[in-house]
Amino acid sequence: MNIAVPRMPGPGREGQPGANATGGPTRGQISIRNVTKIYDPEGVNVMAVDNCSMEIAAGEVCMIVGPSGCGKTTLLNAIAGFHSITSGEIYLDGELLCGPGKPKAEQGADRIVVFQHGALFPWMTLAENVAYGPMVQGKLRKREAIEKAFHMLAEAGLGDFGGKYPGEVSSGMARRTEIVRALINNPKVLLLDEPYRAMDALTKSIMHESLLEVYDRTKVTIFFITHDLDEAIFLGDRVHVVTTRPCKLKKTVDVTLSRPRNYQALSSEEFRLLVEEINGAVHEEAIKAFQSGEREMA
Ligand SMILES: Nc1ncnc2c1ncn2[C@@H]1O[C@H](COP(=O)(O)OP(=O)(O)O)[C@@H](O)[C@H]1O
Ligand SMILES: [Mg+2]
Repeated sequence: MNIAVPRMPGPGREGQPGANATGGPTRGQISIRNVTKIYDPEGVNVMAVDNCSMEIAAGEVCMIVGPSGCGKTTLLNAIAGFHSITSGEIYLDGELLCGPGKPKAEQGADRIVVFQHGALFPWMTLAENVAYGPMVQGKLRKREAIEKAFHMLAEAGLGDFGGKYPGEVSSGMARRTEIVRALINNPKVLLLDEPYRAMDALTKSIMHESLLEVYDRTKVTIFFITHDLDEAIFLGDRVHVVTTRPCKLKKTVDVTLSRPRNYQALSSEEFRLLVEEINGAVHEEAIKAFQSGEREMA
């Protein structure tokens, strides 16, 4: 079994939200221990995750790469509390999210999911969408929440768009708004399930830079699922390659590129070597998935 060793990524971060005396982030550490998930549709067992273990450090950008239908979303959904696990344990900052006697994690604002298909309310403006969470939770009054939303949208370069509706802005702006909507809750962890999958390469690269900027500012732990190897390396502190179904850890690679990162990193020799290091493992699993006729589960 290949269990990655937790580490505190990145340089000094004193003064950042959740930073400790040595400057490292202190919140959002996830332990996935021997997790198995078996679906049982109509009595037919489907093992999606098999004895999978991973350690994700506080403030780490953890990238999960694996073939379609291998069980990545299943793992993310278990962390989010969208469904139960069959066995194993998942901890967040040392507290049991799910495990023996508690098969399903409670959903909470400490773990926020950004889905592949956008989820903004079309009848609300971008600012209203962002303000919605703290308002319904009773954490902020409407006026304060809207003010904060405008402020956070401005930080994300969307200052002029808070009054627009999702249908009036580009898909890239809508995605960025979703990240802002997640961040207003001050989550410990962002769970991103192929958020940029349907985007063209140029929009995607702008999304990447914008997410990196958000990360540099917040140091929130990010659990990010992708098919895209370049995306995994460009964004990640570590890349976990997982096997074809059932999902378990196949290989972990530390991304040695320095932060803050910009697009020039993509053409560096270091980047090319990382692609080479990871590509073999990804390709091997993609072929296995193809040969088994695994159907894509978006
Ligand atoms: N609700 C479900 N009921 C039964 N089987 C499911 C369900 N969701 C997913 N699966 C099965 O689990 C496997 C993993 O799915 P998923 O986690 O969505 O994969 P990925 O995100 O890696 O594409 C799928 O191949 C599918 O067979
Ligand atoms: Mg998926």
